[in-house]
Amino acid sequence: MRSLLILGASGDLTGRLLFPGLARLLATGRHAGLTVVGGGHDDWSADQWSDRVRHATEDALADATPEGRDELERIRRESTYEQLDVTAPGVLAGAISRLTPPVAVYFALPPQVAQDACEVLSPDELPEGTRLVLEKPFGTSEASARQLNDTLRALVPEQQIHRVDHFLGKGTVLNILGLRFANNFLEPVWNRDHIEKIEVFFDEDLALEGRAGYYDHAGALRDMIQSHLLHVMAILAMDAPARLDERDLRDAISSVLRAARVEGPFAETTRRARYTAGSIGGRDVPDYTAENGVDASHGTETLAELTVTLASWRWAGVPFVLRSGKALGAKRKEAVITFKPVPHLPEGFVGVDEPNRLRIGFGPDVLQLDVDVNGPGDILSLNRVTLEADLSATDLLPYGEVLDGVLNGDPTLSVRGDTAESCWRVVEPVLAAWAANEVPMDEYPAGSRGPSSWATSAVGADGTTSPETGPDSGEDG
Ligand code: BG6
Repeated sequence: MRSLLILGASGDLTGRLLFPGLARLLATGRHAGLTVVGGGHDDWSADQWSDRVRHATEDALADATPEGRDELERIRRESTYEQLDVTAPGVLAGAISRLTPPVAVYFALPPQVAQDACEVLSPDELPEGTRLVLEKPFGTSEASARQLNDTLRALVPEQQIHRVDHFLGKGTVLNILGLRFANNFLEPVWNRDHIEKIEVFFDEDLALEGRAGYYDHAGALRDMIQSHLLHVMAILAMDAPARLDERDLRDAISSVLRAARVEGPFAETTRRARYTAGSIGGRDVPDYTAENGVDASHGTETLAELTVTLASWRWAGVPFVLRSGKALGAKRKEAVITFKPVPHLPEGFVGVDEPNRLRIGFGPDVLQLDVDVNGPGDILSLNRVTLEADLSATDLLPYGEVLDGVLNGDPTLSVRGDTAESCWRVVEPVLAAWAANEVPMDEYPAGSRGPSSWATSAVGADGTTSPETGPDSGEDG
């Protein structure tokens, strides 16, 4: 790939995640000679753009290889910004034609703007090998995702369309593949006969962070579960692919998501809540509805939980609980696999036999297996221990990992079109039930552990409900 055109270059995502991820990738010395051009709606001066590029490349420069350092210095000198109205006929095509092909066009734009921008392009305006890169959310519904897919596929083949879900670039998510498929002991028990339930938690202590313009229309379900956590679930649940390539890996992910559904009644299988005023680590956080730019009438949730089931022989009857929220008191980013109890515990043991739990942490990246062993003291008393290992993180940031695939022309870590539609199909009935107020909106103080009424199955390594993961015991009691 010779050129990368980033649209939405003056936006928050480009400055915070995309450019730093790109910088870390280029710092390895890979993709030498790439031209990077920013395009945006804002009337930015050359100085504003070069400030952004300098700032976004600072960390990467500090640990760059010598070749990587040269590359980053060159990008700092040469990268330019163009003010573009990409939805106006001819404007985007003109910008692409000024670049050396092949070109990757990164739409760091809201879905409707990306749709409008692609509608004014025609295939003959795109040089051979052009790649189109779309940020999440991909569409706003199954129907709009299908429409966007149709528009994109009329421009370039599916293999040249990269739908970004940066969770697929997270080292730990990919570590699940190694854990599951490079070891013999897990696969025979990785099914409904031995697993009671699988939970995926992504609780953040970040609040709105000035993102009301986006988040107040999205909410926790669309922002985190609709694609990120559904993909983590798919990787936890899928069958072993023949190869870790774009066809087999994405087929395996796709067949899990085609089998996924949230059964009603939704008041039993889903929960939602919104934070009220509180404090996180000594920082005061206002009530969500009092945050700058929030419109209370949107009824946006900041914490969402769904129980998904999979229509398959392997997983029938096993609940997959997916939960994510903002402004929580404790970060909790992990998948927890709870095994069924032993079929018979020999009489004579003293104490409680707890189910085995395997925890895969997404930051810190750790693997923990909770097991019962004998002793100490009375040799027949059962005692809980945790076997723990650090998982290797990749050198690249998640965005860098995904961009590496884009620049290499390998869509393995990109969401395939049919899967993007499936993800919306899974959550749409829930969104409709929530919009119809079939499920109450609970509340939790910012900095707490969630609504006090939400019992949680979280159990700490010592077998007791952990104060860090249990229901809120804070301000609202
Ligand atoms: C983004 C969401 O996609 O993922 C954010 O829009 C969220 O709300 C973020 O904070 C979490 O990902 P990471 O990589 O920052 O942990």
